[in-house]
Amino acid sequence: MFRKLPEPAGLTVTVTVDGDALRVPASLSAAAVVLLHGGVSRTTPVSGSPRAPYCMMGVCFDCLMEIDGVQNRQACLVQVADGMRINAQGGARKVPR
Ligand code: FES
Repeated sequence: MFRKLPEPAGLTVTVTVDGDALRVPASLSAAAVVLLHGGVSRTTPVSGSPRAPYCMMGVCFDCLMEIDGVQNRQACLVQVADGMRINAQGGARKVPR
């Protein structure tokens, strides 16, 4: 469904999305990587419905994900970095006690 426009060869990084290692351009956001991977960014807290990044500009909050162990990160506002771990977030954020 989503296809990346061609861009000049540049720096790439390795990230994992839900455990799958991917080599991606360093210019992408974590949300863009999830869309290219065909994944889900989160499930809703009430019904468990799957969600994917939508607005790609920090407005809709459908891209909330766990990035490098931190929950509720807006993946569309986070640029990928080498070794980044990106995981779908299931339901509401866990509150540490
Ligand atoms: S995709 Fe809408 S806030 Fe990130």
